[in-house]
Amino acid sequence: PTPRTTRVATRVARVPTEPRVDAEKDLTNPLHTFEASTLDMPTGRDVESISDTEEWKALQDHVKEINTTHLRDLLRDERRCMSLIKESEGIYCDLSRQRVTEKTMELLLKLAEKANLREKIEAMFSGEHINSTEDRAALHVATRARRDQSIIVDGRDVVPDVWEVLEKIRDFSNKVRSGEWKGVTGKPLKNVVAIGIGGSFLGPLFVHTALRTEPIAAMESEGRTLRFLANVDPIDVARALKDMNPEETLVVVVSKTFTTAETMLNARTVRKWLIAQLGPDAVAKHMVAVSTNLKLVKEFGIDPENAFGFWDWVGGRYSVCSAVGMLPLALEYGFDLMEDNLPVLLGLMSVWNVSFLGYPARAILPYCQALSKLAPHIQQVSMESNGKGVDINGHPLPFDSGEIDFGEPGTNGQHSFYQLIHQGRVVPCDFIGIVRSQQSVYLKGEIVSNHDELMSNFFAQADALAYGKPPEQLRSENVPDFLIPHKTFTGNRPSISVMLPACTARTVGQILALYEHRVAVQGFIWGINSFDQWGVELGKVLASKVRSTMHQSRTKSRTVSITDGFNYSTTRMMNK
Ligand code: F6P
Repeated sequence: PTPRTTRVATRVARVPTEPRVDAEKDLTNPLHTFEASTLDMPTGRDVESISDTEEWKALQDHVKEINTTHLRDLLRDERRCMSLIKESEGIYCDLSRQRVTEKTMELLLKLAEKANLREKIEAMFSGEHINSTEDRAALHVATRARRDQSIIVDGRDVVPDVWEVLEKIRDFSNKVRSGEWKGVTGKPLKNVVAIGIGGSFLGPLFVHTALRTEPIAAMESEGRTLRFLANVDPIDVARALKDMNPEETLVVVVSKTFTTAETMLNARTVRKWLIAQLGPDAVAKHMVAVSTNLKLVKEFGIDPENAFGFWDWVGGRYSVCSAVGMLPLALEYGFDLMEDNLPVLLGLMSVWNVSFLGYPARAILPYCQALSKLAPHIQQVSMESNGKGVDINGHPLPFDSGEIDFGEPGTNGQHSFYQLIHQGRVVPCDFIGIVRSQQSVYLKGEIVSNHDELMSNFFAQADALAYGKPPEQLRSENVPDFLIPHKTFTGNRPSISVMLPACTARTVGQILALYEHRVAVQGFIWGINSFDQWGVELGKVLASKVRSTMHQSRTKSRTVSITDGFNYSTTRMMNK
């Protein structure tokens, strides 16, 4: 509501105070207009912002130098390119098409040191309460811990807890898949509907989409159906249940809090569908839950025995390797199919692009249809984590954090938004390719296989962005003068090329971990809390006021009026 400059100026001008935002007042009254006083933030700073440091300023100065370079020339320097190509754990990662020199890398690493990146990473991995606004650890890495590891949170080794749940998932999914666990009418359960939204949906959907074409996974899931239900739109409910025989369907309600409005309404709807067709006993056999809130699971009517727990130290958007993802995926593919340092470099590249070169967006472009849900998943992981206005101590940030993520698989995206990326705004791109495809399709008469066709585009796009096409070249090709400006490509557009050896459960896990950690690195450098998400609350609270007013207007058959507390615009739309 107030431009950032004002907030920053206010911060500099005032002495430290407690925040004066009256949350209740602001959150529940849509008519309430923000007064300048409600925007006051704690002022004064005990800790300097990273942007006040010499290291940050050195990078700002360095931008002038970089602005005299072009990727066309930078890519001629083989020594530079060699130093920017990394291989780790089978992942090939080429950073040479970033607008960086060896000096940039040196300066970025100094910035990382100044931001205490190493200490922050260690704090995260060792279970410290780095999510300070919620007084929690951010320890999703423990969900991928090996059995023999030990990770202590609040004095307790959590690895045995993690494995206890994994064993329970293994046991349950085996019983369901073998037919030992039957529905109320005695039929085996071959369909699964997983109800959940946000982090309780996007990560599992990403992995499911990636695995369904993997040969072993495809074999394991034969005859089985896994569908996700996220949106409260009745059309999504109808789509998820279409042609599903309730006798053969298992419903998994996935919600960390077990309070999310959309998920709970969808869970009640599907419970009703089951009971209507199979009777009240169906819930015990056909509904299970994944949650940290076992009390609410029980109140809902699901036996806590049939609940798979996780912990408050796993953030929703980081929960795919907990029961949130593991249960639905183990049911579909079998437990045994489910079994990391590039993140710092990739995180630094993002900080450089966003904070110094001024590119606020990033495109995630897998040249692999199986990874089609990577961009939507990383969109939540990245934007919900790093889209913040204040630093970890609550002080307004003097710069914008976070980045705008979007993406589509290539080559589809080429026929959609690449025009803007090539000739419009500069959007750093992540190209992700697969060395060996799951499918070997080679049509007789064609000069390359389908996979090579796809990869031809993968290689071409990164170079087209980097080199562009200058007017001189167009002239030498006898392009008419009037068309030259339209056909010119400025180039100098950065990208990263990542190649995975194949698309398997393991590499899908690697790419997930790579992005999760990259996001954390960015947050650590910017000095923010990447593990809370207060920004999603206000809309939820306002929706609850709308919900109760709509309910009253329906039950009392009256129109909504301005006295209900909504402005003219909202009142009119609600009545419509
Ligand atoms: O509204 C945002 C959010 O809280 C996400 O952080 C979370 O992934 C999603 O809602 C779902 O929450 P839950 O798993 O508690 O239903």
